[in-house]
Amino acid sequence: MPEEEEIEAPVTHRLEPQISSTHRTVSSDHALREHILSQSKLWEWDVFKLEEVSGRKPLMHLAYYLIQRKNFFQIFQIPSGTLKNFLIAIEAGYQMDVPYHNSTHATDVLQAVSYFLEKEKMQGQITDLEILASYIAAAVHDHKHPGVNNQFLVATRNERAMLYNDRSVLENYHVSTAWQVMMQPENNFLVNLPEEDYRLLRNQVISMVLATDLAGHFSTLSAFNNKVLGTNTFDINQSPEDRAIFFRILIKCADVSNPARSWLVYTSWIERLIQEFLNQGDEERKRGLPVSPLMDRSSINIPAGQIGFIDVVCAPMYESFTMVVGAPEMVTSMKKNRAILMRMRDNEIPPLRLGENGRVIQRVRSTIRIAGSTTPPVQPTSSSLLQVSAISVLARPAEDSASKGSTE
Ligand code: CMP
Ligand code: MG
Ligand code: ZN
Repeated sequence: MPEEEEIEAPVTHRLEPQISSTHRTVSSDHALREHILSQSKLWEWDVFKLEEVSGRKPLMHLAYYLIQRKNFFQIFQIPSGTLKNFLIAIEAGYQMDVPYHNSTHATDVLQAVSYFLEKEKMQGQITDLEILASYIAAAVHDHKHPGVNNQFLVATRNERAMLYNDRSVLENYHVSTAWQVMMQPENNFLVNLPEEDYRLLRNQVISMVLATDLAGHFSTLSAFNNKVLGTNTFDINQSPEDRAIFFRILIKCADVSNPARSWLVYTSWIERLIQEFLNQGDEERKRGLPVSPLMDRSSINIPAGQIGFIDVVCAPMYESFTMVVGAPEMVTSMKKNRAILMRMRDNEIPPLRLGENGRVIQRVRSTIRIAGSTTPPVQPTSSSLLQVSAISVLARPAEDSASKGSTE
């Protein structure tokens, strides 16, 4: 491999090199998918592998798998065909051409939610109905996301902003459209739930999805932190209010868990998110609107933006959340990623750049290792190309060279 070359993003995550796409069969695909699903109990899980082996339908596979594993078909008398219909319809509602808010992101959030609920500290604390509601909330939480945010919908006087009076426009839309899917008889897998369970479940799903609006982040988090860190009185078994806050924080942590994943997975998310943000920024410019700060390709600084996001949004929430569920690996991983981002911001690690066509171009340097690198600082190059960050391929140079041919 040449010392330095450019490849076009998005990076599709690759299968293990020994199973090249030309040698895959239906049964090996199935076996591989089952293997990947069984790994979903690990924090190091790579959702992009499931995306690839599922023909970009990871959500229905993971949701079905988790519901089956928890024995919910039996517990809640769920008709399997109806559940399949629901999941297929929900997944189809996520737009594949939206770079970040597609069904792979919903799958990622679902996996994180199920991972946290499986933690030892949570055992015996959460009812099966609450687990099912949490799965549904995660699966539908960005349903039909258009790839632009609430501010854009409000500023452009979008019909959804009119419908929801500018309040949590997207989040209301996600849960409302998902429930409309559920209400079709062929999709209504909750048909056998007793009325009271149905009411509790629906209430929890709505509360969790609405909590994903970052506009309410600080008020939700301070309610949680005041009790967990302040008065030390947080108790989901004594206080129904604490219980409700717990589920809101659970989905919020899962929703912004990408900085707590492995570097490779995290940077792939950054890449997708930035593509989506820049698309919105371009659209704002075209319409003569002020360009949102993190979405302006002429001034974007991804490492600095990510460090800010970690410090302001993620770290204060992960730290108290992990005290409640016992997931210190999240914080450890976030800190490692943050350290790399700091080196990028200070130009100790080569930049990534943005191509003229608006897509992220990755600068691959096979000689550079991120962790404990002894490579001397590399100065940013480029004039016509803008600097951005996100270097998924840098983290695994060997795998990159082994697998590039099969995917690009
Ligand atoms: P959404 O998934 O709808 O809700 C959580 C939001 O957090 C998400 O949209 C993004 O707007 C934002 N977000 C998630 N991850 C990151 C990140 N790594 N950097 C900046 N913003 C993020
Ligand atoms: Mg959302
Ligand atoms: Zn989301």
